[in-house]
Amino acid sequence: MKNVVILISGRGSNMEAIVQACQREGWPARIAAVISNKSDASGLAFAARHGIPTAVVPHTQFASREAFDAELARVIDGFAPDLVVLAGFMRILTEGFVRHYEGRLLNIHPSLLPAFPGLHTHRRAIEAGCKLAGATVHFVTPELDHGPIVAQAAVAVLPDDTEDTLADRVLRHEHVIYPQAVRWFVEGQLAIEQGVVRHAAGAAQVRWGG
Ligand code: GRF
Repeated sequence: MKNVVILISGRGSNMEAIVQACQREGWPARIAAVISNKSDASGLAFAARHGIPTAVVPHTQFASREAFDAELARVIDGFAPDLVVLAGFMRILTEGFVRHYEGRLLNIHPSLLPAFPGLHTHRRAIEAGCKLAGATVHFVTPELDHGPIVAQAAVAVLPDDTEDTLADRVLRHEHVIYPQAVRWFVEGQLAIEQGVVRHAAGAAQVRWGG
């Protein structure tokens, strides 16, 4: 059994999708904890209802990023994680934190990386006239929204799309590719060769959506 710790900051719909897929599909894993930097993150209630331990490490109570990350790592490590999953966790992490979890830290970002790291990805894709948008699951490296790509989902940008309609459409695919990527990790199916992630059995690492 692999221990998975999920970090959230808000709604936690990706966390929900991972918890439900883990239960439904009987992964060789348990969701060991859901941890938030915000006490009012609505995803915490979902986790508690599902009997998953929760913790809050409020970033506002720390004088520096380093102090916050040190405490966050201490709390995470209390759950002996094999994998740490960032699911809408809205904090920039220090290099020391990222190195501590190197190779066992995943993130989902709502763009087709390496395009549009950072915030407001859907607005920026529409403004740039992109015809495709999407989401990327990647291993985390110290550079923001960067690192070996595990899976991507691509959707068309429609002429009348707003930031919200595009975000909704991409999110539906996030809820498929993120659980899939976590499952691949806990099943030991992922290998990183020279910065490129390959699935051992050659599963498709791309999803095309409407
Ligand atoms: C998702 O769009 C994710 O890609 C981004 O933040 C959002 C989190 O949504 N990193 P949720 O909290 O999982 O519902």
